[in-house]
Amino acid sequence: MSIEVYFYPSLTEELFRLRESVFIGEQHFPYEIDDNDSRSIHVGLFKDNELVGVARYFPIDEAKNTYIVGRFAIRKDLRGVGLGKLLMEKIEHQLMNKGAKEILIHAQIEAVDFYLKCGFKIEGDTFVEEGHEHKLVKKILEQHN
Ligand SMILES: CC(C)(COP(=O)(O)OP(=O)(O)OC[C@H]1O[C@@H](n2cnc3c(N)ncnc32)[C@H](O)[C@@H]1OP(=O)(O)O)[C@@H](O)C(=O)NCCC(=O)NCCS
Repeated sequence: MSIEVYFYPSLTEELFRLRESVFIGEQHFPYEIDDNDSRSIHVGLFKDNELVGVARYFPIDEAKNTYIVGRFAIRKDLRGVGLGKLLMEKIEHQLMNKGAKEILIHAQIEAVDFYLKCGFKIEGDTFVEEGHEHKLVKKILEQHN
């Protein structure tokens, strides 16, 4: 089995299709593309050359210390086998190489426990975004020099 992660400066058709199938097809969000896509790096996780995971990240401060990770999804038939955690580790590694100090995520309530397993902590109360309940979760990145 080969696992590879690619980082793209813009959203590819293939990545968009996976996002669309999860967030619109499964979860019924009203739309998928937003203003943050044009300033994001887009991430694809490939297993044996097939796209199985997707995410994006963008900085939210000028110093580029803090990044928001979002549109994070694993193909439905391959959930629960560790691919999500692997994708998050690859993103964290990439962001640490860019000098990032922390990651923030607007986590859907149903996914919060996944992010806790990835080492994130909950910050504050539940809020509603695009009709779905979310919590802000945060992870401080530890440099291992
Ligand atoms: C959330 C999601 C990305 C998790 O990916 P995954 O590949 O299934 O997760 P993993 O298999 O890597 O799981 C890592 C750990 O989190 C746990 N976990 C995963 N999803 C979980 C969930 N929804 N609730 C509770 N625990 C969960 C696993 O049991 C595992 O625990 P372990 O380390 O003790 O074995 C995936 O379920 C998904 O794509 N969901 C639909 C899209 C979505 O909601 N994205 C989040 C948007 S905020």
